Amino acid sequence: MEESFEKPPVETATKAEIDAGEIKFVEECSRCHVLGPSSTPDLRKLNAGLHAAFKDIVLKGVLAPAGMERFDDILSEKDVDNVHAYLIDQSWVAYREQEAAAGHASAAAAHAEAATAHK
Ligand code: HEC
Repeated sequence: MEESFEKPPVETATKAEIDAGEIKFVEECSRCHVLGPSSTPDLRKLNAGLHAAFKDIVLKGVLAPAGMERFDDILSEKDVDNVHAYLIDQSWVAYREQEAAAGHASAAAAHAEAATAHK
């Protein structure tokens, strides 16, 4: 099974910032990162440390030796904040789907139990 989603950070960005971030993500990041299983990290699954280091990774290239380019020649700090906001938003979508699915599974199990109890 795919590794599960941790609860993402609180969302503070506006819809406009998230939308702007999606455009930059598609333009600059999606050729290497997909939101799903692939050979590069799924950016909806960043842990707290990676969230904190996000700007340094993207702008300063702290992971450049591992193949993660730096983007300070293409993206402004604001662009990177927007991309980060878009990814946090997508993390919440995935996290909520996961939690809803888990809720369904336990509800279904409870139904099955209730059904057998009545027999
Ligand atoms: C040329 C391919 C490439 C592009 C383009 C690219 N990345 Fe990456 N990125 C990578 C690779 C490879 C890694 C894994 C590096 C490692 O193993 O530490 C990575 C890792 C990361 C990480 C750390 C994730 C983790 O779980 O360790 C972040 C954050 C990240 N990229 C953000 C971005 C953003 C934002 C963009 C667009 C602005 C972007 N990347 C564009 C290749 C790319």
